[in-house]
Amino acid sequence: MITGAAGFLGSHLSDRFIKEGYEVIGMDNLLTGSLSNIEHLFPLKEFTFYHHDVSKFVHVPGELDYILHFASPASPIDYLQMPIQTLKVGSLGTHNLLGLALSKKARILVASTSEVYGDPQVHPQTEDYWGHVNPIGPRGVYDEAKRFQEAITMAYHNYHGLETRIVRIFNTFGPRMRLNDGRALPAFLSQAIKGEDITVFGDGQQTRSFCYVDDLVEGIYRLLMSDYHEPVNIGNPDEITIEDFAEEVVELIGSSSKIINLPLPEDDPKRRRPDITRAKSILDWEPKVSRSEGLRHTCEYFKKELAHN
Ligand SMILES: NC(=O)c1ccc[n+]([C@@H]2O[C@H](COP(=O)([O-])OP(=O)(O)OC[C@H]3O[C@@H](n4cnc5c(N)ncnc54)[C@H](O)[C@@H]3O)[C@@H](O)[C@H]2O)c1
Repeated sequence: MITGAAGFLGSHLSDRFIKEGYEVIGMDNLLTGSLSNIEHLFPLKEFTFYHHDVSKFVHVPGELDYILHFASPASPIDYLQMPIQTLKVGSLGTHNLLGLALSKKARILVASTSEVYGDPQVHPQTEDYWGHVNPIGPRGVYDEAKRFQEAITMAYHNYHGLETRIVRIFNTFGPRMRLNDGRALPAFLSQAIKGEDITVFGDGQQTRSFCYVDDLVEGIYRLLMSDYHEPVNIGNPDEITIEDFAEEVVELIGSSSKIINLPLPEDDPKRRRPDITRAKSILDWEPKVSRSEGLRHTCEYFKKELAHN
């Protein structure tokens, strides 16, 4: 079962598990996701969709081998607009799914995030860094929900002996990202394709590291199949400043867009780069798709979507 199946990552995971020969139950309440991401799966007998809010009691009939909990508002625009749902799906939703995993004797993998490190004082971020989060800042609703999610997942592992996996996902991009979810990468791509100004927040010296979705899905698949229950960072360590990234996008698209600077939002993390030593040694995983190749695929998707809108 994959929660958040109609979202960006959940839909790619559904594709991957069906390709591997599994039967997939996709569960989503369509809060931020879209059925268009999974409509190609509806004709398949291997795919079943449940329209359900996982913050409420979750029941599915029959056996389950694996649960992947990916339901949650994920971009700053979404979780700032839906602070309570974000806190509930990370806490109550995770609790419901851990209970389901226990009753079905299923292994559960939960989607955590680099945001558990907050605005990090350690660089690059290793899994044993405890983070630097403002619990009552605007981003606290997401960061703390995910930190609670990790805590209760470890508690179920330690207390009940449940088979659990925790992936800390760093910024990921690819087709089926929403075009206007407030994150830099989709914003820049949409703006460059439309020839609008590219809006860089602050002086653009903050950094991000972008992982292509196929690489992330491979890392998650390997982690689920591994016997490792501690958190694992999955992301691309190729770090770039937002200003350089804006220039890269303009060049890639061949756009006439100008780059302009806007005020930096509160608590915006200054640096982000995963240390992936653990993923390399335990999962024999590292990203294979370069940013430029990933951007080309994503750009094709964005052009098609923008033409329809
Ligand atoms: N995309 C990234 O770069 C990234 C980075 C770190 C972590 N993550 C995590 O990965 C997961 C998926 O992120 P995404 O980028 O695919 O986001 P997304 O918004 O595209 O997908 C999330 C999905 O969850 C669904 N959902 C939200 N609340 C729900 C609820 N209560 N019950 C059922 N469904 C619900 C939404 O409708 C949506 O389809 C999230 O948990 C997110 O925190 C993503």
